[in-house]
Amino acid sequence: MSLEEPCVKVRKEHGEEVRLALKSANLLRTDLRIQRDDDFIYLPLTDEHLEGVELNAEIELCHRAFEILGRRSIEELSGFKPSYDVVGDIAVLSSEVPETVASAILKLHRNIRVVAKRASQVEGVFRRRRIEIIAGEQRTETVHKENGCRYKLDLERVYFNPRLATERARVASMAERGEVIIDMFAGVGTFSILIARRVPETRVIAIDINPDAIRYLRENIRLNRVTNVTVIEGDVREVCEEFTDTADRIIMNLPMRAHEYIREAIRMLKPGGGTIHFYTVESESGESLMAKAKRKFMMRDASVISARKVKDYAPYKYIVCIDAKVLK
Ligand SMILES: C[S@@+](CC[C@H](N)C(=O)[O-])C[C@H]1O[C@@H](n2cnc3c(N)ncnc32)[C@H](O)[C@@H]1O
Repeated sequence: MSLEEPCVKVRKEHGEEVRLALKSANLLRTDLRIQRDDDFIYLPLTDEHLEGVELNAEIELCHRAFEILGRRSIEELSGFKPSYDVVGDIAVLSSEVPETVASAILKLHRNIRVVAKRASQVEGVFRRRRIEIIAGEQRTETVHKENGCRYKLDLERVYFNPRLATERARVASMAERGEVIIDMFAGVGTFSILIARRVPETRVIAIDINPDAIRYLRENIRLNRVTNVTVIEGDVREVCEEFTDTADRIIMNLPMRAHEYIREAIRMLKPGGGTIHFYTVESESGESLMAKAKRKFMMRDASVISARKVKDYAPYKYIVCIDAKVLK
């Protein structure tokens, strides 16, 4: 049985040194098997916030599947190897599984109280999906911990994907003191709150059209005790005027349709311009993924800082992020 868990990736020659440092800071998980490949060691973490630990070696934070040590596996208990995400205390299966699997998950993971499965694709303007509960408590609301923040959310009422944790941490690490940052499609605040916590000297404007996402966003601002996030409920097309010439940095995390909102993003950038993190979905056929993504971004006065595959979206389709400096 394996799960995607946060970990530190470090070159083998520094592995032992970093392992000892994490262990003495109580940051190393001892219930998961440490992994190795030719060049790197992967050390599973109890907390992605590496507070209180001094590391001299170069490390990378990432997510990886680890084997759980010393316990019977779900496969042993149910004869099936399921693939699922964990959101708070809810396990969300990505496919149909026998009933024995749900009870094996509940049995093996005391932190999981609900086993559910995806009952539709992510759909509509609010980017939600239907969820069907198959075992445990009858609820779809939970509190998910990610990157040192807590997010309350209802899986059926808002968009949420735990596989984007590393991407959110990457974008947050680029935010700088003094910046005004607009999160155009903020959801329950996963980018906004992380940035606001990590760099309290920013002002973050978090916009979303889904009233449920806004309700959770407000609650999450309180949960995480951030004071530098302004919440705006509405269609970014309608509210963008209020933020004309405002932002140093803009996050456009609406991969299917972000390209339809480029005019609004530019309008909100400061007169000198700024940085845009633009997400798009592209397929792997024909022209390269990155070339397609860049073409969709299509800005005359932009220089692309980086273009990267963020995660799988569907067979042969990927979410790509373009980070770009845009002049205005
Ligand atoms: C893919 S989700 C991203 C949520 C969040 N950034 C995250 O990583 O969890 C896109 C969000 O955009 C919101 N949205 C869609 N169209 C919008 C619009 N025109 N104006 C404002 N928000 C919009 C949806 O309600 C949804 O919460």
